[in-house]
Amino acid sequence: MPKTSNQDAPDIERTVELGSFFDAQPVELVAGAVLAARYQIEATIGDGGSGQVFRAWDRVLGEPIALKILRPDRAREKTWIKRLAREVRVARAIRHANVCRVFDLGNADGHWFVSMELATGGTLRDTLRDGGARSLEERLVDARAICAGLAAIHLVGITHRDVTPQNVLRMADGRLVLSDFGLAIDAGADTTIEGGTPRYMPPETAMGHRSDQRSDVWQFGSILHELLYQRRPEWEGGSQGLILRQAMAPNASSFEARLGRLCRDCLAHNPADRPANAMEVAARLAEAEIARPRGAFAWLLGPRRGIAILGLLVGLLAGIVVVDATIRRRIAHPPGAAPIGHLPEIDDADRRLLRALAGTLDAQGRHAEARRLDRIGTSTGD
Ligand SMILES: Nc1ncnc2c1ncn2[C@@H]1O[C@H](COP(=O)(O)OP(=O)(O)O)[C@@H](O)[C@H]1O
Ligand SMILES: [Mg+2]
Repeated sequence: MPKTSNQDAPDIERTVELGSFFDAQPVELVAGAVLAARYQIEATIGDGGSGQVFRAWDRVLGEPIALKILRPDRAREKTWIKRLAREVRVARAIRHANVCRVFDLGNADGHWFVSMELATGGTLRDTLRDGGARSLEERLVDARAICAGLAAIHLVGITHRDVTPQNVLRMADGRLVLSDFGLAIDAGADTTIEGGTPRYMPPETAMGHRSDQRSDVWQFGSILHELLYQRRPEWEGGSQGLILRQAMAPNASSFEARLGRLCRDCLAHNPADRPANAMEVAARLAEAEIARPRGAFAWLLGPRRGIAILGLLVGLLAGIVVVDATIRRRIAHPPGAAPIGHLPEIDDADRRLLRALAGTLDAQGRHAEARRLDRIGTSTGD
C-alpha cells in the first residue's frame, strides 16, 4: 500500500530561507494584488481555520485557480508552515476525480500559499441548505461521489479526519470533490493533529481516542444521513452509548431501507460495528443499487405500494367478473348458433349486401363465414 513518505517532517528550513521570508512585509490580499508575480487575486471564496481561500487568475497558464493562503500571523509560525506542507504532500498522494487536485505549496511576498483546482459550485453545505427539491437519485449521485473520493483516500492508507459538507466542494461540471487535508493522517503515522469539526466528530474522537478510517466512515454516515433524510442524525442515550434515532419513513421502499441500514451501520457508536473503510461502504452502496427493483416492479414495491396493490387487486377482481360473464354468455350462445332470430330487423338492401358479401367469401373459399352471412341474408328478421 503506497504511503506518503516522511510526511510529518517536511524539511522546510533546509529548503527555504525562512529568515528572509519572516522579514518580508506581506502584500495586502485585495482584489487585483499579484502574488509570486503570477497569481492575481480576484475574490475571497472561503474562510477556514488555517487561512483564507481566494479565487485567483494564473497569469502564466491563463486559468482560474484557488489559493489557500495562511493567515499572516500563522505564516510566521514554523508549525503552521509545516502543517500546510504536510497537507499538500498528503493531498498529492491521491489522484481521483472526486478528490480536489492540489498543485503546489509556495511562498512569496510574505505569504505561504497552496494552489489547487478551483471549485466554482460552492460546498456540499450550500447544496444541503437549499436542496429540498432534489430527487433521491440526484442525492445518491452525490453520496456515491463522496464515497468514491473517500475510498481513493483510504486506498492509499490515509485517514482524512474532516469529512464534512464544508470540505466537499462542487466543481463547475457538477462533480463533487473532497478537499482540505489539514487534519489528514497516514495510517502508519503516529502523530495526530488536534482539531476537527465538532458537529461531525465521531464518538471516539470526541472521547480523545485515536481516529482511523472508521472515523471517516462515521463522518460519511453523517453526510449520507443528511443526503437521504435531509436532516442531521439525531441521537438517543443508551447503555452502550448513543443510539441513532430512526429517520426512515415507515413506507420506505426496500432499496431505501437498505440505504438506511448502511447509514445506521456507518454511524454505529462502536467503530468495530462500522464498515472498515470507504471501500466497504462503496461496495454496500453498489449492492443496494444492484438489488434495486426497476421499472413497474420498483413502483409496485415503492412508497405507494399500498395504493398499487389495492389497484392491482381491484383490477384482478374486475377481470375475473368480466371473464366469468363472457364464459357464461358463450355457454348460453355457442358460436355458430348465432341468435339470428334476435337480430334487429334487416331490410332488402341489407339482404342484398349480405348475399353479395357471402358470394365473395364463397369465391374465396371461406365457406363457413359465407354460409353464416347467407343465413342472415335469407332470414325474415322476425
Ligand atoms: N479549491 C477550492 N475551490 C473553491 N473553494 C474552496 C477551495 N478550497 C477551499 N475552498 C473554500 O474555502 C473553505 C475553507 O477551505 P479549507 O481548505 O477547508 O480550509 P480550512 O482548513 O481552513 O477549513 C472551504 O470550506 C471552501 O468554502
Ligand atoms: Mg475545511
